[in-house]
Amino acid sequence: MNKNIGIAKIVIAIDGPAASGKSTTAKLLAKKLGYIYIDTGAMYRAFTLKVLSENLLEQLLGDESRLRQFVEHTDVRLTDTQVWLDGRDVTEQIRSNEVSKLVSKISALKAVREKLSAIQKKLGEAKGVVMDGRDIGTAIFPNAELKIYMMASARERAKRRYAELKAKNADIDVSLDALEAEIKQRDEEDMNRAVSPLRKADDAVVLDTSSLTIEEQVERIYRLALEKINS
Ligand code: DC
Repeated sequence: MNKNIGIAKIVIAIDGPAASGKSTTAKLLAKKLGYIYIDTGAMYRAFTLKVLSENLLEQLLGDESRLRQFVEHTDVRLTDTQVWLDGRDVTEQIRSNEVSKLVSKISALKAVREKLSAIQKKLGEAKGVVMDGRDIGTAIFPNAELKIYMMASARERAKRRYAELKAKNADIDVSLDALEAEIKQRDEEDMNRAVSPLRKADDAVVLDTSSLTIEEQVERIYRLALEKINS
């Protein structure tokens, strides 16, 4: 743990649109503070992976009791660096483009949100957490001591996603324009859903990361966190 940090532990909520750099920043920030990092998007992605691999989309969208049953029988867990779905490690699989394209639809389902929100609230109870997502500062921890809203232009976010995908698989057949269109579509869906839409909390600090490096992003939030911890 950093010597600057007293015993006080706070909750740091980081929200923002797709590919705005939340998870990389949040992970590094948590490490610097000796806090736990919780990637709530990964939980929605795990649910989505199950819907895709079991080909359940049509069935679940039209049948509320089937959906409730499905949610009840789905176990999503996070450990330090891994994501588990029904006991299987799905850390890599949840990052596929197929999952990215469908996840907004699945995360808009009330039954899914209710289940994951309850888990997330529990995970943050002891404080000392950095949690990233879309509704952390507005719905999960409306009393978080520090709230950050990270954003960047859609083009910049598409460029980052493109570099990420290419780094994993140089032969991948994907265009920057298509990624930008997908990101905009996801923003649209995340911001306009009925339950806990993506929105900046009134008391969130806005961080535009279009021209910031990851290190600069981490450093800015780290300083804000120290102010809160020591106040
Ligand atoms: O952060 P991410 O791109 O991995 O998130 C994937 C999707 O999950 C995102 O498009 C919306 C949804 N999500 C959500 O609705 N609420 C959260 N707290 C986190 C993610």
